[in-house]
Amino acid sequence: MILEWKENFSVNNKDIDEQHKKLFEIGQRIYDSISTMNSYDRYDEIMEIFSELNEYVKFHFKFEEELLEECGYSKLETHKMEHHFFMKKLEREANRDIESSQKETLVRLINFIADWIVQHILKEDMAYKESLMMKR
Ligand SMILES: [Fe+2]
Ligand SMILES: [Fe+2]
Repeated sequence: MILEWKENFSVNNKDIDEQHKKLFEIGQRIYDSISTMNSYDRYDEIMEIFSELNEYVKFHFKFEEELLEECGYSKLETHKMEHHFFMKKLEREANRDIESSQKETLVRLINFIADWIVQHILKEDMAYKESLMMKR
């Protein structure tokens, strides 16, 4: 499987597109890690992914929300709630027993990212595209 950002996923903002690409990259890395899964301990690698994702959500959501606020996006509150939901979900995942269920954790993480891309980026983020364009 290849998790690849495509030109038609663009929300017409270079910074946000770059940030979204980064999420695809993290997803791809998790997928590669699952496919090469062997008996090695992946605990450190998984914790690294969690911390990277955590940094990423905080940075990206804040950046996006500020930009949407600037352009007076009418559905900002609902959008913020969705962001909050993804942050909580990631928090729950990080608090599970990771050590003894490493492969399951990676599989759940890849599902989490796939959901985020399909349910959020390709729907909710796409929905603000026109508001961003009108700002220019
Ligand atoms: Fe986004
Ligand atoms: Fe968003």
